[in-house]
Amino acid sequence: MQVIREEVLNAFEREVDGHDGYREVHLGDLVELVNARLNTMWTLGDEFAHDCDFMKKAVAYSKEAKIISELAKLLPSFIIGVLGLAFKRISGNERYIQNVMLQLIQTKQHHTEKNTPSETPTILDVLLQRAPSHWETIDFLREMNVTWNTTNFVTPVLIAGVIQDLGRHQTYHPALLQEASCWDHTQSTDRLRLLDAFITESMRTQCFSSTRIHRIALCDFTFFDGYTVATGHTVGFNIRKHFNDEAHYPSATTFVAERHLEALVQATDVSVKWPFWGSQRLPCPGRFYAVHVAKLLSVSLLENWVFEIRTGQPQSMLYREYSIPHPRLKLRLKRKVNTYL
Ligand code: HEM
Repeated sequence: MQVIREEVLNAFEREVDGHDGYREVHLGDLVELVNARLNTMWTLGDEFAHDCDFMKKAVAYSKEAKIISELAKLLPSFIIGVLGLAFKRISGNERYIQNVMLQLIQTKQHHTEKNTPSETPTILDVLLQRAPSHWETIDFLREMNVTWNTTNFVTPVLIAGVIQDLGRHQTYHPALLQEASCWDHTQSTDRLRLLDAFITESMRTQCFSSTRIHRIALCDFTFFDGYTVATGHTVGFNIRKHFNDEAHYPSATTFVAERHLEALVQATDVSVKWPFWGSQRLPCPGRFYAVHVAKLLSVSLLENWVFEIRTGQPQSMLYREYSIPHPRLKLRLKRKVNTYL
């Protein structure tokens, strides 16, 4: 929670006072930084999450990776290969982050050999203990790079959507705050049932990508209605249609968090009813992380700030099959009195 408090306060203090105590911060930037710091803290360790230079380069590296991966969908592979390489060489962020990771892995491998356990184990520590014995340093580097980058990549979109909804539906704040006041920060966030339902409803109504569970047909496949998918073609489940189906979600366009309390659906569930995280056979393992961070940031904001998302500003942006909170979306924040701040 400390990292979150620091980041929100930093974002607030960077902005100009609006005279009524409110200041406006860029929601996307705030969420990106909070997520990157928590991800770094749990993956690599506390000292990196507190290293401003590392974090600056980390966020820049994630942004570059996003741009390159989007360009890769539009440009021929030989062009993106050259362009990507040039981009990374010039910025140097990828090289810097990977060098830091490499040095850390080598140091920790040395400690593991000498059997010196870490006091607060990170994901890297656990990986070093549990990975197959034939893994080389390069395997650890690849795995850490993928895990750390994936987590920086898509999670902020979900979290920004949740905070956007919290800012738009202030009527929920008293009940959510009441629930949070009975929650001890050392307990599992699973106890925050109303907040979980709120997040679930945010995920349903925002549903930032329209399809899930993409699969390639290995042979011609004919559905019961006669539609045939040819070998090699991709299919995806139209989750946005499912989430807006009145048969499953009456008054589907209305934000009603309580519907998930009644239906006993939780944000991290994996079921036919709730296919947000993919199919039951191969669900997303990162779902617990994403929902946990969304809860921590929500509680921190509710406890310490009065906040809102003003109407009249662009709310979301459509890009390919994605609908994401608008990059220029601003969150209005005012300090609460009598908090730690
Ligand atoms: C909001 C954030 C995220 C969303 C919406 C998301 C969504 C998904 C979905 C829908 C799948 C299943 C794909 C399929 O069946 O076709 C998936 C798989 C996967 N996700 Fe996530 N994910 C998120 C965050 C993360 C994070 C933080 C990690 C952690 C590193 C992660 C790691 C993975 C992995 C490794 C798989 C493959 C699982 C397998 O094939 O066994 N995801 N994700």
